[in-house]
Amino acid sequence: MLLGTPFDPVRDRALVTGAGNGIGRAIAQALVGEGVRTVFADLHGERVAAAIKAAPRPELAVPWAGDLSKPEACDALLSAARDALGEVTHFVHSASPPRREADHALAVDRKTWQDMHAVNLDAGFHLAREIAKRLIGAKQPGSFLFLTSLHAGTPRNLPHYSTAKAAMAMLVKELAKTFGRYNIRVNALVPGAIAAGGFVADPALARHIPLGRLGQAEDLAPMALAVLSNRLSAYVTGASIAVDGGLSLTNWFEPPVLDV
Ligand SMILES: NC(=O)c1ccc[n+]([C@@H]2O[C@H](COP(=O)([O-])OP(=O)(O)OC[C@H]3O[C@@H](n4cnc5c(N)ncnc54)[C@H](O)[C@@H]3O)[C@@H](O)[C@H]2O)c1
Repeated sequence: MLLGTPFDPVRDRALVTGAGNGIGRAIAQALVGEGVRTVFADLHGERVAAAIKAAPRPELAVPWAGDLSKPEACDALLSAARDALGEVTHFVHSASPPRREADHALAVDRKTWQDMHAVNLDAGFHLAREIAKRLIGAKQPGSFLFLTSLHAGTPRNLPHYSTAKAAMAMLVKELAKTFGRYNIRVNALVPGAIAAGGFVADPALARHIPLGRLGQAEDLAPMALAVLSNRLSAYVTGASIAVDGGLSLTNWFEPPVLDV
């Protein structure tokens, strides 16, 4: 049966950032549902606890709370993951600070700019590189997945967000190229308008979406599992896979009105 056993529950170990809410939460829950021991990492401990409580097999989940905008927290997460699970083989980077419409080019402050880049890009790079180092040393395969955005390629009126995602999209390609010969695959999942918490969705957006509805976090999780699975997607790396109901075929954003 090809689709019956996408993961190896003995060997595969996952770490999901942003697992307290939205897309990261749905992916982490789906992973434990497939029998993969998984660290649920997020800024908010209470969100992690709730996500684990609602997961299909909570006994396979390991909670971790900390601020991934800080390099020392990334190091602490890596050592907590190793202590709890051994080597991480599957890494998902979904954590991202909230995006607020008010933070347009003239308004966004330095800290908001820096935090967006620190969590999306710096933490993603640091975590992926450290996990890869250990896998390469142990001659073990791995699979990494980054949550980028349609706005890695088109403006979002939030320059801190779109530039962080554009850099992340290139990071995926850099790491896929460098780690490929060590059998570590690195891919991007590109969500459309997902009513998942981080994006305050206007239901009227549905008319711009060819499939006729906004997405749910649960629309992302099955594709995330397929791309993470070394059995289902062994020959896929450096890819950006849109899960957007066709939204990328349109662009509905007007430029922001500047209050000057
Ligand atoms: N929802 C969408 O429509 C959409 C569209 C395109 C891309 N994405 C991307 O998908 C990913 C998940 O989106 P979502 O809507 O589920 O987001 P979300 O806001 O619901 O969840 C993000 C999680 O990241 C955590 N987080 C924020 N800052 C953190 C920090 N400093 N340290 C640790 N954790 C931190 C938050 O606590 C939250 O639980 C994000 O990277 C987002 O940019 C989402």
